[in-house]
Amino acid sequence: MTQPVRVAVLFSGRGSNMQTLAQHLAKPSVAGEFVLAITNRPAAKGIEFCQAQNVPCAVIDHKAFDTRAGFEAEMQNALDEAQIELICAAGFMRLLTPDFVTRWHDRIINIHPSLLPAYKGLDTHARVLADGAKEHGCSVHYMRAEMDDGPVIVQKRVPVKADDTPQTLAARVLKQEYIAYPEAIDIVIKTLRKP
Ligand code: GAR
Repeated sequence: MTQPVRVAVLFSGRGSNMQTLAQHLAKPSVAGEFVLAITNRPAAKGIEFCQAQNVPCAVIDHKAFDTRAGFEAEMQNALDEAQIELICAAGFMRLLTPDFVTRWHDRIINIHPSLLPAYKGLDTHARVLADGAKEHGCSVHYMRAEMDDGPVIVQKRVPVKADDTPQTLAARVLKQEYIAYPEAIDIVIKTLRKP
């Protein structure tokens, strides 16, 4: 039996994608293990889930560091200590340096609420509505040095409705995020464990 891939999830707030990943990785049929959560925000709501589920959660407050490199060195320590093989960013709202992302090349993935390469950056739902776009969605992609860049692993599309608000559109996309991320992690786990 091959050892399960050791996964860390990075989050900054609500952590609902992290919960979905935790539930997915708990299935015996999935060859991955949710070993560690890391948040950069001491007040992140998702911490409560980790506590309730007994998932180790490292709180590494980026504000406690003078430099991005210092913050990332602390994250790297936590990841090394837990022998992490794959990082999943799930609502992690902190830019990572090219150094860090390159070190984790093809072993760090992210979910973004748009059909990349369209609508990189923040406030995607409001921007889609402002443009009158007819279609929107989410992407799980390998991270590269550029923000919201890198090969797409899974994309899910949703229609944009005439009476949508950023909130209703976000909720429709989020439902698809919960489908896309488990699908993507399955693909990446298979790639990492390819003989
Ligand atoms: C999700 O919609 C995720 O796609 C988005 O933040 C939300 C986090 O929700 N990520 C980004 O915007 C990254 N640029 P969650 O904390 O409930 O998973």
